[in-house]
Amino acid sequence: MVRSLLSADDLTREDLFAILDRARVLKEAIKQRKTLDLLGNRVIGILFEKPSTRTRTSFESAILRLGGGTIYLAPNDLQIKRGEPIEDTGRMLGSYLDAVVARVYAHQTVEDFARYSGIPIINGLSDLEHPTQAICDLFTILETKGTVQGLTLTYIGDGNNVCHSLLLICALAGMHMRVACPEGYSPRADILDKANRTAEKTGARVQVLNSPGEAAEGADILYTDVWVSMGEEKEKEEKLNAFHGYQINADLLSLSSKEVLVMHCLPAHRGQEITAEVIEGPRSIVWQQAENKMHGAAGILDYFLS
Ligand code: CP
Ligand code: NVA
Repeated sequence: MVRSLLSADDLTREDLFAILDRARVLKEAIKQRKTLDLLGNRVIGILFEKPSTRTRTSFESAILRLGGGTIYLAPNDLQIKRGEPIEDTGRMLGSYLDAVVARVYAHQTVEDFARYSGIPIINGLSDLEHPTQAICDLFTILETKGTVQGLTLTYIGDGNNVCHSLLLICALAGMHMRVACPEGYSPRADILDKANRTAEKTGARVQVLNSPGEAAEGADILYTDVWVSMGEEKEKEEKLNAFHGYQINADLLSLSSKEVLVMHCLPAHRGQEITAEVIEGPRSIVWQQAENKMHGAAGILDYFLS
């Protein structure tokens, strides 16, 4: 059966923990520069409609390290640019490639690619979700804390793609998640419903609050993302105003657990969603988190493709 990773909701608990275990083993192997041939010369397309520093490079690097090959597909160089339908493009790519890692504006695009290509599509961020980010982040939390069950992750910021995938992954893993966001920037209701349904089974709790202080109280992890996401440049002023006060700073840290870990999917805007002092400070695991995007990608590729 061909399986794609379009949403964090595509995973079972067994899938998630198997991926995390593969990531742990492969991180060790990669550190020791072991020769790995898990992808057996599979050719994987990398199709990115938006910029990326981490997701694209970490996936390409993981693919090469696991013995596969990559072809970068710049959207402007494809006939899609001149109006060729996704349906036709998907069919062709499905016959030339073994899988595609795709970053798209509209989530529907990855759904359509998966349907028409017949090969596994890995969502490297859409307007709705960023599932590989959430999986890699869980790997970092597990690596640092030794467990994930019962921990509280507080997300301060916009209730969009990264937040959505974290909600689904935390619920699956049995982690409590609190979201603090301004009025009008809450996570989507259907994602909250899915997370709540999963949380009922795993003992996790999901809360959406307006107050960052209340959400940060006793938190084990404080997490944030940019205030202005890719594609939202026109709303910049409006969003900077709306998110004023939703910053991870020293005051907020003092309300959370003494052992609190600070995470950010990056890129970071110091002075907006996080202060320079906190991102560079002793509670930040942001750079370990960013490195683990490659090891998490290796775990995902091995689990879905080999
Ligand atoms: N966190 C993340 O997805 O970073 P990039 O946009 O650099 O890929
Ligand atoms: N929410 C951000 C995530 C960047 C990794 C965006 O979509 O731009």
